[in-house]
Amino acid sequence: MTKIIAHRGASKYAPENTRASFELAHQMNADGIETDVQLSKDGIPILFHDEKIKRIMRRKGFLQDYTYNELKSMDIGSWFGSNFIGETIMSLEEFLIWIQDKPLQLHLELKNNVIDYLHLEVLTYNLVERYGLLDRTFFSTFSTRSVQRLYKINRDTNIGWLTSKSRQQLPLFSRSLGATAIHIKHRLLQPKLVQQAKTENMPLRVYTVNKPKQLELCFKYNCDSVFTDVPDIAKTAYQTYL
Ligand code: G3P
Ligand code: MG
Repeated sequence: MTKIIAHRGASKYAPENTRASFELAHQMNADGIETDVQLSKDGIPILFHDEKIKRIMRRKGFLQDYTYNELKSMDIGSWFGSNFIGETIMSLEEFLIWIQDKPLQLHLELKNNVIDYLHLEVLTYNLVERYGLLDRTFFSTFSTRSVQRLYKINRDTNIGWLTSKSRQQLPLFSRSLGATAIHIKHRLLQPKLVQQAKTENMPLRVYTVNKPKQLELCFKYNCDSVFTDVPDIAKTAYQTYL
């Protein structure tokens, strides 16, 4: 069964990484939520994709220049549409509380490939553990260092290495880092890689898949999960495919 994971929530219909987009994904029966984790200036894990705040807050500077309280006072919904004025940034802890009683997987992408946040892995891991959610949490990162740090924290953790570049023996390389799964850009989905991943028993998760034809290919190859901005379309496409 291929799981439908809402990428930054149902981010085609609501501002990414907000409570509104997560609620919508849940209403659309997504199997899980993908979100991006960074640190505020005062070291609080928060959910945000870009390193800079310009696109979402229309202000200058980097996310890490602001404290959690400063970020919490900023609107992160109005850039998307007037219906979403008043949406505010969520801390990872707020997200964990929100998801606790819902039957959803958590896909936490540690955004430390551009800024290598000190202790991002351990802070995120400890919080997830404190809320008893490790068994349905899947960590992922583009950073090979970060994969290795997560592996050191707990080698039984679900860790996906994210990549948009093809390379020889991708599954073997990912495993050598300590990853348990491979998260690939959809254009890398090729029969050879599918076969290698199967041989290595490495789940393949594919991002960001929004078009029915691309979704269908992921289903055909029995990918473990797809990350999509349109969980409603993906769910329908899966039912049609079955
Ligand atoms: O986790 C898949 C996907 O989120 C990776 O890319 O840039 O959308 O965070 P990005
Ligand atoms: Mg992401």
